[in-house]
Amino acid sequence: MEQLVIKGGNKLKGEVRICGAKNSAVALIPATILFDGDSTISNLPQISDTKLLASILSEMGAKVDFKDDKMRINTDNIAHGTENELKAGKIRASYYLAGALLGKYKEAVIPLPGGCNLGTRPIDLHIKGFEKLGAQVEISHGMLKLKAKKLVGTKIYLDVVSVGATINIMLAAVMAEGTTTIENAAKEPHIVDVANMLNEAGANISGQGTDIITIHGVKSLHGVKHKTIPDQIETGTYMIAAAATGGDVKIKNICLEHMASVIEKLRDANVQVDVLDEETVRVTRKKPLLGISVKTLPHPGFPTDLQSPMGALLTVASGTSMITESIWENRFKYTDELNKMGSEITVTDRTAQIKGVTKITGARVKAPDLRGGVALVIAGLMAQGTTIVSGVEHVNRGYEDIEGKLKSLGADIRLEEVDE
Ligand code: UD1
Repeated sequence: MEQLVIKGGNKLKGEVRICGAKNSAVALIPATILFDGDSTISNLPQISDTKLLASILSEMGAKVDFKDDKMRINTDNIAHGTENELKAGKIRASYYLAGALLGKYKEAVIPLPGGCNLGTRPIDLHIKGFEKLGAQVEISHGMLKLKAKKLVGTKIYLDVVSVGATINIMLAAVMAEGTTTIENAAKEPHIVDVANMLNEAGANISGQGTDIITIHGVKSLHGVKHKTIPDQIETGTYMIAAAATGGDVKIKNICLEHMASVIEKLRDANVQVDVLDEETVRVTRKKPLLGISVKTLPHPGFPTDLQSPMGALLTVASGTSMITESIWENRFKYTDELNKMGSEITVTDRTAQIKGVTKITGARVKAPDLRGGVALVIAGLMAQGTTIVSGVEHVNRGYEDIEGKLKSLGADIRLEEVDE
């Protein structure tokens, strides 16, 4: 088991380069199942979720070569209808295998999705979409089985804005007969990235990034060379970490357009964010932090995945901050851990009230999930004394070399292997 040992108090200084987006990557990689021939996806993050997907696809029969940030992949001989007892259950986004296999082969058998435990994580909208396209869906013994004689385009309205369902329906519909429209579609940057890659492969998708996505089915798709967009959440995490330590950090290789809500909230909290160009911001903090209210919302609102890092930052902001989590019902588990470090957070239903304290202190804490884990790392960087964060496997799912990147910014952090 690995743990991160952090001696707090160092101000982060210097430059950090942001990787490709995890949430794009976990959809782009399975999407290649739809393509004939070779593809190369670049700017992929080297994290456990992408490595696992690479191994799942090669276990299924794809040729996969994943080096540095590039994955060369050919899925022409992939197994589809068999009972794939894959490792796929380990990551939530394994469900994209279902949409892609259904879209290409009209059948799929995959284990039900895993991932962070953020409360109930239903996939009813994915299933509704597949059924409306003409698939028969069966769930038994932890497996999701899909089969269709043919897939026919239709109108699909999502009654909850869902990133996963929007992407999965695009994957299933891209080669369906006729036209599919997804209404009340999610607008997250990675949805646009996936749609763009599909279009590069010969698809006919429009409206990505708006509420209504239109997909005119095509007969086949070919291999592509695609570059993954920068990770909005990793960008926000380093912005918040820089602010939390009162540091001065240049954050490079970002997409500024995706960061509007985060920049706004950081500025409200008295953090200085200077835009150097469309791909670079500099974050400094010279004044004391002010308490603010934050509500998570689907894009372009404040991203739920930055709710916990923001919560860590606000522990030492003056006055009382309020965070309302409107996407996931169970995303405040990290607050119990923060309270062990001296923060004063009370959670009622979907709202956390954070009474600002003058300092927090090091403690032994456990990452409850990916983003909650990184919140604890940020708290460790701010705290007086030493913080030990266990459950690091959660953090490794989504952050490439977090220890190395923080060290290069001057943090006193080390990764330790310990017995269970
Ligand atoms: C994706 C992101 C995750 C982020 C989330 C919200 C990936 C791999 N993960 O997760 O990091 O926190 O978007 O921005 O991209 N819902 C239903 N029925 C469904 C599907 C979802 O009711 O069939 C509900 C969920 O319970 C949740 C909300 O819709 O309350 C949003 O979920 P969704 O956007 O689907 O999240 P994911 O795609 O799982």
